[in-house]
Amino acid sequence: MQKYANLLAMPELDSVEKRLNPFGVLSKLAQETPIRYDSSRGCWDVFRYEDVQRILKDPQAFSSVRSGAGGENLLFMDPPKHTQMRELVNKAFTPRAVQALALRIQAIADELLDAGSGEELDVVAGYATPLPVIVIAELLGAPAEDRADFKRWSDALVESAEDLTDEAFERINRKRAAVLEELMHYFRALLELRARQPKDDLISALLAARVEGERLTERELISFCILLLAAGNETTTNLITNAVRVLTEQPRLQEELTASPEGVAGFIEEVLRYYPPIVSVGRVAARDVPLGDHTIRAGQQVISWIGTANRDEAKFTEPDRFDLHRKPNVHMSFGFGIHFCLGAPLARLEGKIAVQTLLERYRELRLLPDQAIVPIPSTFVYGVKNYPVAGRR
Ligand code: HEM
Repeated sequence: MQKYANLLAMPELDSVEKRLNPFGVLSKLAQETPIRYDSSRGCWDVFRYEDVQRILKDPQAFSSVRSGAGGENLLFMDPPKHTQMRELVNKAFTPRAVQALALRIQAIADELLDAGSGEELDVVAGYATPLPVIVIAELLGAPAEDRADFKRWSDALVESAEDLTDEAFERINRKRAAVLEELMHYFRALLELRARQPKDDLISALLAARVEGERLTERELISFCILLLAAGNETTTNLITNAVRVLTEQPRLQEELTASPEGVAGFIEEVLRYYPPIVSVGRVAARDVPLGDHTIRAGQQVISWIGTANRDEAKFTEPDRFDLHRKPNVHMSFGFGIHFCLGAPLARLEGKIAVQTLLERYRELRLLPDQAIVPIPSTFVYGVKNYPVAGRR
């Protein structure tokens, strides 16, 4: 079986500096070899907007089913199973249900920023990590006293290996398996409780959802809850941190957004395009498929680069410029097609509230000097493990 660590070791992104700022290297690859087979990782890389879209639009040719990945997990399903499951969870995960969370998200953001009194803040540890974890726990309907457990579980689920060796990955995978076991027990108990005493929460809504008389099995319910933790937390953490990165790299934006807070929603869209929390998504060719001048053979892995599609000159004017007022902004940071991110409305709302609240409380935010910023070692996820800032309160 192909080793995961190997897939992540992109030969062109071989230093901390390049992982912190990969877009120059990636754009060059996109220009020189828009579609290429990388034999060192054993996968295809596809860099241009049009080709990425073509792949994500065609789940029959480019499957999401991965051997070894959870069979009950929406992300790794193809139609018709995906269609039915998605319809069921859509019923519980409506934009209206998400909008109703705005006040709670605001209260959690306030609470987190109140906790730190000084002028310094590690955005990742103090703000961007706990915020989405608490929101998901509340959304699911987990009791407040279980928050600390949620934080521990979701940290473990997304913890990245400290380096790109198979040993490091095996260590992480063992830890993750133990946490998954704990989570199964936890959610099984919570599901049983809500089956007896439904409440106004996502778990109760999922238990009640039916499509053509069919409902989710217990296993499907549990893996969906775990998927929300795994897919929703680290991504939103990185959206918030990447937004703060942009604000400190281009401080002029802080003044502009403080003066016009209604611009924050557009700012978040441009952060998503410019520094996407997920820079690439994987598929497997279900049959031999022609793509450009190449033929992708059945069974081969294909990595579609959202990060370069979002900076494709054929689609965006001046793609390397951060443009607060960019319109239209058809980035693919939430994917495209049938697997389009279920949590996009929630992530957008959390990102907006997190940035507005931070700007209300801190003036002249800046990165603390002489800090070693550590990139998350991954070619799928774009984010940093620490981001210490200071600002006037
Ligand atoms: C799918 C990105 C937040 C739940 C996806 C996909 C992307 C993505 C790119 C498609 C993957 C593929 O096609 O293989 C993001 C980003 C987020 C974010 C950038 C934050 C900024 C969330 C949140 C939740 C969530 C907050 C839930 C609470 C999901 C689920 C799927 C998904 C369930 C699978 C949908 C399906 O397969 O039909 N996300 N996501 N995501 N996301 Fe998100």
